[in-house]
Amino acid sequence: MDKIIIQGGRRLAGTVEISGAKNAVLPGFAASLLTEEEVHLHNIPKVRDVNTFCHLLASLGVMPETYGKNSCRLKHDGKTSFEADYNLVKTIRASILVLGPLLSRYGHARVSLPGGCAIGARPVDMHIEGLKRLGAAITIDHGYIEAKAKRLRGAEYSFNKTTVTGTENLLMAATLAKGRTTLKNCAVEPEIVDLAELLISMGAKIKGQGTTTIIIDGVEALKGADHTVIPDRIETGTFMIAAAITGGGITLRHCLPETLTAVIDKLRETGIEIITEEDSIEVKMNGSICPADVETLPYPAFPTDMQAQYMALMTRSNGVSVIKENIFENRFMHIAELKRMGASIEVSGRTAVIKGGTSLSGARVMATDLRASASLILAGLVAEGETVVDRIYHIDRGYEGIEKKLGLLGARIERVKS
Ligand code: EPU
Repeated sequence: MDKIIIQGGRRLAGTVEISGAKNAVLPGFAASLLTEEEVHLHNIPKVRDVNTFCHLLASLGVMPETYGKNSCRLKHDGKTSFEADYNLVKTIRASILVLGPLLSRYGHARVSLPGGCAIGARPVDMHIEGLKRLGAAITIDHGYIEAKAKRLRGAEYSFNKTTVTGTENLLMAATLAKGRTTLKNCAVEPEIVDLAELLISMGAKIKGQGTTTIIIDGVEALKGADHTVIPDRIETGTFMIAAAITGGGITLRHCLPETLTAVIDKLRETGIEIITEEDSIEVKMNGSICPADVETLPYPAFPTDMQAQYMALMTRSNGVSVIKENIFENRFMHIAELKRMGASIEVSGRTAVIKGGTSLSGARVMATDLRASASLILAGLVAEGETVVDRIYHIDRGYEGIEKKLGLLGARIERVKS
C-alpha cells in the first residue's frame, strides 16, 4: 500500500490548477445510461472513484473512453445489463446513482444495496421511497435492490431530509417518466445544478435546479451531449487551507469561488486574506490564525466534506474553537490521528472542541477516509519533522495527484510505493 511522507515546515507558494469535481462527474457518468447516444464529458479528474465508476459503467454496457487532457466519451455498446454488482458497489457507494437511470430507461434495475462506510450508516431509504412514488415496484433480496416499472410515472415527492445523491437519482429517473414530477426539499449543491444542466443539454425538461423544488417534465428519450463538469470545490477548499496553515500564499486557478462562499467567509473570519476573481482565488496568510467555530450543514452552508481539513487548521489557531458535524454520525475519525500528532481535541457526541496553539509533531498516521486523509496531510505540512500517512488509497479516491500539486507549491512531500 502506498504511503505519503511529508517533511513539515515549508511555506507554500505558487499556483495550483484545480481539477474537475468528482461528485459532479459521477452523476454525470450515471446520466449517460439514460441515452443510447454519445455523451462527452470534459474536465474529468484522474481519481480512483472515477476509474471505479468507469468499470461499473462498462459492466452496464456503456464504454467510457478517455481522450485528450481530461475528456471522456461514453457510448452504449449495444449490450444491456441492469445489474450493479456487489463487488463494485462495495468499493464506491455512489454506484447507487445508476439505480434511477437504469430503472427509468430499461424498466428494470438490480443494484447491490450499499452498506455503511467509515463515516456513517448512510442509508438510501429516500432513493427507494422516491422511486416507489414514481411507480416502481421495489424489493430488497439477497442484499440487492430489485426495482421494476414498465414506465415511471411523474409524481410529487418530498425528501424528509436533504440528500445529494438521493436528489440526483430521482432527478435522473424523472427525466424519462411519463408526465410531471415535482421534487420538494431537494438538495441544492452545485453538483446537482451541474447534473441538471447536463440533462437539459441531453433534452430533459427541468426547472428549479439549485432551489429546493425541482420540476421535471418527462420526455420520451434523451440524446447525446457535450458537457464540461464544474471544478471541485472541496479540492479548492483543501488547497486554500494548505496555503493558510503553512503561512504561505498561493493562487488557485480553474476554480469556482461562487460555490465556496461559506468556506471563504469562514476562512476570512480566521484571518486569512482571500481575493476572489471569477475563476481564481488568491490566498495569503500572515500572522496567526484566529479560532472560529463552525457547524456542517447542507449547501450553501459549510460542507461536511471540509470539516476534517478545517479541523487541521484549527489545531494551529491561537485559541479554542468548536466544530459540530451535523451530516454524518461518525465523521471524526481523523481526531485520534491528529491527537497522535499532538493536537488537543475533546469530543462529545457530534461536537469537537479544539484547543489551538499546541505544536504538532510528525508521526506515523493512518488515513481512514477520503477527507480524513486530507486533514492528516494538511497537519503533516506544518508538523515538526516527518509525517507518514498510511492507507493513502483513500486520498486517491478524490484528489488528483495531491502530492504532485503540493510538491509544485514547495511542500516536501513524496509518495512511496510498496
Ligand atoms: N440519508 C438518509 N437516507 C437517504 C439518504 C441520505 O438518511 O436515503 C442521510 C445520510 O445518512 C446523511 C444525510 O442524509 O446523514 C446526507 O447524506 P447524502 O445523501 O446527502 O450524502 P450522499 O449523497 O451519500 C454526497 C457526497 C458526499 C458528501 C455528502 C454530503 C457524492 C458522490 N457524495 O453523499 O461526498 O459528503 O453528499 O454533502 O456526491 C466525499 O466526497 O468525501 C463525500 C463523502
